[in-house]
Amino acid sequence: NVLILDFGSQYTQLVARRVRELNIFCEIFPYNNPPADLSSYKAVILSGSPFSVRAEDAPHPDLSQIRGKLPLLAVCYGAQYLAHFNGGEVAPSNIREYGRANLAYIKEGEPFFEGVNLNSQVWMSHSDTIKKLPDGAVRLASTKDVENAAYKIEGEITYAIQYHPEVYHSSDGKQMLENFLVKIAQVPQNFTPNSFVEDIVEELRVRLGNDKVVLGLSGGVDSTVAAVLLNRAIGSNLYCIFVNNGLLRKDEFQNVLHQYKDMGLNVKGVDASDRFLSQLAGIDDPETKRKTIGRVFIEVFDDEAHQITDVKWLAQGTIYPDVIESVSVKGPSATIKSHHNVGGLPDFMKLQVVEPLRMLFKDEVRRVGATLGIDPELLGRHPFPGPGLSIRILGDITPEKVRILQEVDHIFIQGLKDHGLYDKVWQAGAILLPVNSVGVMGDERTYEKVVALRAVESTDGMTADWVHLPYDFLMKISNEIINKVKGVNRVVYDISSKPPATIEWE
Ligand code: XMP
Repeated sequence: NVLILDFGSQYTQLVARRVRELNIFCEIFPYNNPPADLSSYKAVILSGSPFSVRAEDAPHPDLSQIRGKLPLLAVCYGAQYLAHFNGGEVAPSNIREYGRANLAYIKEGEPFFEGVNLNSQVWMSHSDTIKKLPDGAVRLASTKDVENAAYKIEGEITYAIQYHPEVYHSSDGKQMLENFLVKIAQVPQNFTPNSFVEDIVEELRVRLGNDKVVLGLSGGVDSTVAAVLLNRAIGSNLYCIFVNNGLLRKDEFQNVLHQYKDMGLNVKGVDASDRFLSQLAGIDDPETKRKTIGRVFIEVFDDEAHQITDVKWLAQGTIYPDVIESVSVKGPSATIKSHHNVGGLPDFMKLQVVEPLRMLFKDEVRRVGATLGIDPELLGRHPFPGPGLSIRILGDITPEKVRILQEVDHIFIQGLKDHGLYDKVWQAGAILLPVNSVGVMGDERTYEKVVALRAVESTDGMTADWVHLPYDFLMKISNEIINKVKGVNRVVYDISSKPPATIEWE
């Protein structure tokens, strides 16, 4: 188990992911709120930071329980912090030290650099530089511009590096992390999807005992994997609720419900389409749509949860990035604050919360899902927004518009699958525009709806680019949509990147 102390660097999550890729479990804690008990940790990594160590308000953690007691790797800000307060000197650098650099000197025979060649590329991102090393330090590496690119403290297992080993541009970064964690700190590499499943199922069994648990399934990867894990632990004491809000993809409710039942889940499908669509009637503002859907979902879910007698727990598919976000250096998020308001909450939200995936990244959830034997097609699904098709129908929502968009979306998505393009796209869908355009079919003039197709590549949805789908494919799909979907006579393709556009149109 490795502890990562976060000083607010944009790369901290990446550090954790690289460590996990080595099959080593790690946890991120904000520097100002570290774990009280360090006994289970085998090594500590200090992250980078947007701060300068010379700034008044810079993070100033107490490392007395860590330094010299546990193997320590200090990255960027961490390296400067150790230097600045221990007899070294940190000063603003004369030249901008940002971007690619190469290791021009590596100390011979140093295990930290085993398997790393001279000239290896590293990624720098700092405006201060370590002018003088701290007491007891030995220089381990330099670049052309950064003399003290890496050092260690004699007599301790304390290593410090100015560059970021976690970013892809540091070509041997992962090797250095492995050298430090495995060779030097001797941390066992025993965190695998299988070991995770074994441990968490046992933990859930003990924690939940004979209690009943309710969980909302969405058809997405996270809630599905959470359900299968809980099902392994407590069987039919897990009550799953899958709500149809009438805004899912074509036939999705029936298909996915069927799949859930085949997986042996104790699941109840609740078709609340009419309730959602009647509440949405006449609303065209995107945020009001979202709020309405959120409110109706809570009402429907609460009604259903009340029908389970003696339920004690609410299970959620929360994953690690959401957890880190809510405990980050920048302070707790709004969701954490909601418990101040318990009185006004629906009953199910007052239940104890269990989150089996709260320590996993998205790609780890998928691997755990594969270990559990979940259908790869389900695990490889594109993200789909909670408010569903409502935010892809611009303007007000009617059952007829939902039907049209479901048909269009189905042709597009099925086409992507049939042409082997689905897995090359991060997210795809269709948008129904609130305009009619003139067309001609046979001898008749038409005046019908326009739909837009959107397909993007991305890693996390924060930034995205449109996918260069083959013209032949677009031609075929456009023809099929116009020929088959009554009410549509024009198809356009969205070629906007995010930013400045967003993925969804609303
Ligand atoms: P945008 O449109 O902000 O979308 O570029 C980024 C990602 O978030 C999804 N998205 C949502 N998901 N509720 C959700 O659960 C929402 O209200 C919502 N809005 C956008 C979107 O599908 C994309 O994956």
